[in-house]
Amino acid sequence: MKKRIIVITAVALLIVVALFVLAERANAPTRDAIDETEQASSERAEQPEQQPEELGFDVNKHSIDEPGSPWWIVNRERPLPDGYVPPDLTVPSVRLRLDSSAEQMQFSQQATPAVEAMFAAAQDDGIELVFGSGYRSESLQRQFYESYVERDGQEAADRYSARPGTSEHQTGLAVDVTSPSLTCHLEICFEDTPQGEWVAENAHEYGFIIRYLDDKEHITGFQYEPWHLRYVGEELATELYESNQTMEEFFDVVAYYPPVLAVARLGGCACCC
Ligand code: DAL
Ligand code: ZN
Repeated sequence: MKKRIIVITAVALLIVVALFVLAERANAPTRDAIDETEQASSERAEQPEQQPEELGFDVNKHSIDEPGSPWWIVNRERPLPDGYVPPDLTVPSVRLRLDSSAEQMQFSQQATPAVEAMFAAAQDDGIELVFGSGYRSESLQRQFYESYVERDGQEAADRYSARPGTSEHQTGLAVDVTSPSLTCHLEICFEDTPQGEWVAENAHEYGFIIRYLDDKEHITGFQYEPWHLRYVGEELATELYESNQTMEEFFDVVAYYPPVLAVARLGGCACCC
């Protein structure tokens, strides 16, 4: 009897041990599974860390050289192609300074919904903006520039009026804004008008920047123009607004102008800058 109990106990123990071993095996990862896990972690280790700029702003999204690109940089060093005319000119449905048939009342279609949205938003805030001057052909810019040279001399004119073939207005992406009363029209005191204050604070939300910033004449080549807005799209406009940079600085294409140009503020061009 005693012998039988010992045998039964031994068999039961063996069964328990066997069951335990089987259960352990079932839970253990296979060699393949181990290999896959090891490969995945070594791949993770090999991948370069994602850089912050890759997660944020894509500086290559648009060209700064391509005519018609919203980021096209036009300045004294970067003229437009000879006789360039934007292929998509239209007349925005906003309050215009001149008759709608006037050349300057045109704007590039790609920026027109944005200018209309901006004017509507200003109106909602009780501010009446007026579309002062948008597209200007090379020949119209020549007329303006030459009249300023005659009036103020070339050195002074070059501070506020682009030579023909180098004006952003010819891209159809720039607009001079003003007010119904034309208070401080194209004069630096525009910055203190309700219209000037509104655009300075809000234009970027609609894709526009103040292109010729205060204290950046040595970089842009032009004196401060708080009325001259350039369409670049909301993303870049916000980036430039928040960092107080010009397009030249942001895209690293600065051609420094002599600081002598920045010594004094002219009153403004008082006509058609
Ligand atoms: N006033 C700006 C610089 C222009 O003439 O285009
Ligand atoms: Zn302008």
